[in-house]
Amino acid sequence: MSKNDQAGRPPRFSTLTPGSFPAIRMRRNRQADWTRRLVAENRLSADDLIWPLFVIDGENQRVAVPSMPGVERLTIDLIVEAAHQACALGIPAVALFPNTDPALRSDDASDAFNGDNLVCRATRAIRDAGLNIGIILDVALDPYTSHGHDGLVIGERIDNDKTLEALIKQSLVQAEAGASILAPSDMMDGRIGAIRSALESAGLSDTLLMSYAAKYASAFYGPFRDAVGSSSTLKGDKSTYQMDAGNTNEALREVALDIAEGADMVMVKPGMPYLDIVQRVSEEFQLPTFAYQVSGEYAMLMASAERGWLDKDRVMMESLIAFKRAGAAGVLTYFAPEAARALKATD
Ligand code: PBG
Repeated sequence: MSKNDQAGRPPRFSTLTPGSFPAIRMRRNRQADWTRRLVAENRLSADDLIWPLFVIDGENQRVAVPSMPGVERLTIDLIVEAAHQACALGIPAVALFPNTDPALRSDDASDAFNGDNLVCRATRAIRDAGLNIGIILDVALDPYTSHGHDGLVIGERIDNDKTLEALIKQSLVQAEAGASILAPSDMMDGRIGAIRSALESAGLSDTLLMSYAAKYASAFYGPFRDAVGSSSTLKGDKSTYQMDAGNTNEALREVALDIAEGADMVMVKPGMPYLDIVQRVSEEFQLPTFAYQVSGEYAMLMASAERGWLDKDRVMMESLIAFKRAGAAGVLTYFAPEAARALKATD
C-alpha cells in the first residue's frame, strides 16, 4: 500500500493498480481515430484564443513584420476588418499594440495619456462596429517612451512609483476608450492595486484586469519589439523589472500579490519555455491563467516551417494544445486566426 501524499490524499486508483501486460495494453485506446477522440483529455477551441494585432496610423495599409512571417501591422480600418474576422472565427478577444510614430515618443510617455492616441482610436473604431468581442490593451509605457522602457527613467533607474502614476492615467484613458480588459505588462510593483482602485473611483468597475503577473526578461520578445518599433530605441535591458529566467517561486509570489490587488486573470509570459510556470500557477491559484506564446516563439516555428524543416500546421496545433495541457484557460498567439480556421475545418 503506498502512502498518502503531502496533502494527506490517498493515492489514486491508477497509481495503486498499474496492472501488467498483456492484460493492460495502452495501445488499445490509441488504435483508431475514434478511440483517440473518445479518450482525448484536452481540446483546443477557438474560445481559447486571443489574437494580438499591431496598429499603425494611416488608411488601408498593411506593413509586414519581417521577423514574424505572416504578421502585418494594420491601419485602423483594417484592424476593424480583422476584428470582424475574429468574430466570424469565434475568437473571443483581440489584443491591440500600437506602433507609435517616433515623433510622439518622449521621456515622459505623454502620448500614453492621450485619449486620441492610436490604440484608443483603434479601440473606439472596433467598439463603433458593434462587435461582440473583447478588446485587450497593454498597460505599459514602452510604445510611448523615447528610451523603450516600460516605465519612467529618473536618473539611472526605472522609477516604480512615478511609473504607477503614469500607468493609472494610461489605464483610465484606455478604459474610457472602450477597452474591456486592461493587461498591465510593465512589471512595476503595486500596479494592479493602483489601477484597480483608480478604475473603481472612476466608476469603471467592470473593466477586467489581466495581469502579466509572471513576465520574464526574455530574448523571445525581439520580433515584437521590431513590430512596435522599440527594438532600436531600447536602451539596456528590462531585467530590473521583468523576472529572471531561473525563478519559479518568485512567479508564485508575483501572482499571489496580483490576485490580492484585484487581478481577474493572470498571464505567464513567454509561453512554451515557461510551461512549468503555467502549470504551477494554474494549479496553485485556480483562477483563469493565460499564456502568451510570444513573438519569438512564433518566429522560431515559422522560420523552420519556411525552410521545410517543420510542418507548420502540425507544430502550430501541437504547441497550442501544450498550453491547455499545462492548465491554461487560453493563449495569446499570433497563430490565432489560422488555428481557429483549422479548428473550424475539423468541426
Ligand atoms: C510590452 C510588451 C512586450 C510584449 C508584450 N507587451 C515586450 C516587452 O516587454 O519588451 C511581448 C510580446 C511578444 O513578444 O509577442 N511591455
